Amino acid sequence: MGDKRGLLGALSLRELLTPPRTPADIFSNLPVLQTERLTLRPMSMRDAADIYAYSRDPEVARHVLWDAHQSLNDSKAYLRYIMKQYRDGTPSSYGMVLNATGRLVGTIGFMWYSPENRAAEVGYSLARSLWNNGLMTEALRAVLEMGFLELDLHRIEAQHETVNPSSGRVMQKCGMKHEGRLRGRVLNKGRYVDVELYAILREDWDRLRRP
Ligand SMILES: CC(C)(COP(=O)(O)OP(=O)(O)OC[C@H]1O[C@@H](n2cnc3c(N)ncnc32)[C@H](O)[C@@H]1OP(=O)(O)O)[C@@H](O)C(=O)NCCC(=O)NCCS
Repeated sequence: MGDKRGLLGALSLRELLTPPRTPADIFSNLPVLQTERLTLRPMSMRDAADIYAYSRDPEVARHVLWDAHQSLNDSKAYLRYIMKQYRDGTPSSYGMVLNATGRLVGTIGFMWYSPENRAAEVGYSLARSLWNNGLMTEALRAVLEMGFLELDLHRIEAQHETVNPSSGRVMQKCGMKHEGRLRGRVLNKGRYVDVELYAILREDWDRLRRP
């Protein structure tokens, strides 16, 4: 015999009264994520100066699809675009705040989301002075968890330029699997570049967490 309380008995009153959040609700109101050294939170226009401080660096922009910011206005325009994504409930990015300083030092989030396939792609960037300290690995783990548990995703992808292997290391360290090289896949800053495709399935992620 099963549990006599049935499904309803197992739910709290709050869960019964609160309709489940849709992906659009979640993208409109990204849940704040805490890691050991970072707070991942929605951005606001007040973050413009912090974004500009690292996004003006051509090395940070070299292997991403945006150009290094030339002025604070570029960072404000980026944030206006992010604010619209939040308003529209479409896939978007978190700001990464370094708890030790309170400064926003990078971004990480969803590039696209496919409800039919319960799939999404993640992307990220971090201030150069903080590279190689494990910070993006920490952030990506938290975003993968959010994607599987909050967005109920089945598959999460990420891509990096072949000539940017440190990004691939981040994906590997988070349990993502290399699925292949896509030749000439992306036109970046005037050149067609090869990219490496990585992905993790919900079942891979569950297996990694099993004791
Ligand atoms: C890619 C990026 C996000 C990595 O973030 P990070 O916080 O430095 O990443 P982590 O410290 O967690 O891991 C970096 C790993 O790359 C390794 N690495 C660094 N340079 C490398 C290289 N040339 N070749 C191979 N591995 C390299 C590091 O040793 C480390 O691996 P380890 O922990 O096994 O030693 C960061 O460099 C960045 O923001 N770059 C600019 C924007 C960008 O390229 N975004 C990704 C677009 S796909």
